Amino acid sequence: MNVKIMSQRIAIREPLHPSISENQVNNLVDVFYRKVRRDERLHPLFEHNMTAPWDAHLGKMKTFWRSVLLKTGEYKGQPVPAHQKIRSVSDLDFQRWLDLFDQTLRECIEPAARPAVAHVARRIATSLWLSRSIDPTINPPVWRPWNTGAHHDETNERNKK
Ligand code: HEM
Repeated sequence: MNVKIMSQRIAIREPLHPSISENQVNNLVDVFYRKVRRDERLHPLFEHNMTAPWDAHLGKMKTFWRSVLLKTGEYKGQPVPAHQKIRSVSDLDFQRWLDLFDQTLRECIEPAARPAVAHVARRIATSLWLSRSIDPTINPPVWRPWNTGAHHDETNERNKK
């Protein structure tokens, strides 16, 4: 019994995919928020609702994504209340967030790891969406599936040439 618990604990600390490195995750966060800050839809939502300067936000988001993707356990924050207090976030805002995140995956993460990371981002987006919902009878949005959106997979295109 103890042995089983031990082996589960070790498995839990493995990266989501073996190709994901700390450098990749840190870069993912930098590249993603560069896109957010250039985005007409998302930029105002962040500017109006962030309680810390951008560099502190980026540092926190790096600990978050290292915890999620590398299982470092270092993130101790509370994403649910942080998003509940934002007054209006539409389904389109969430979809835009995911579209920019998908674009970033194509630039920063190895192809084999991308579907798993995209899946985790959608799961967290759904749970944040649900935590903001005041009507439990309304279902969460169905997000655009990974790799079927309007965006080009630049790496695959490059590899074909
Ligand atoms: C349209 C969608 C979203 C908007 C507008 C948004 C906006 C924000 C803002 C303004 C903050 C800073 C809050 C503060 O300083 O108190 C924040 C924090 C955060 N966001 Fe989002 N967010 C969105 C989606 C997501 C998604 C999909 C994820 C994860 C996959 C995420 C993860 C986080 C985390 C981990 C924090 C830090 C919370 C903390 O510990 O203080 N966000 N977000």
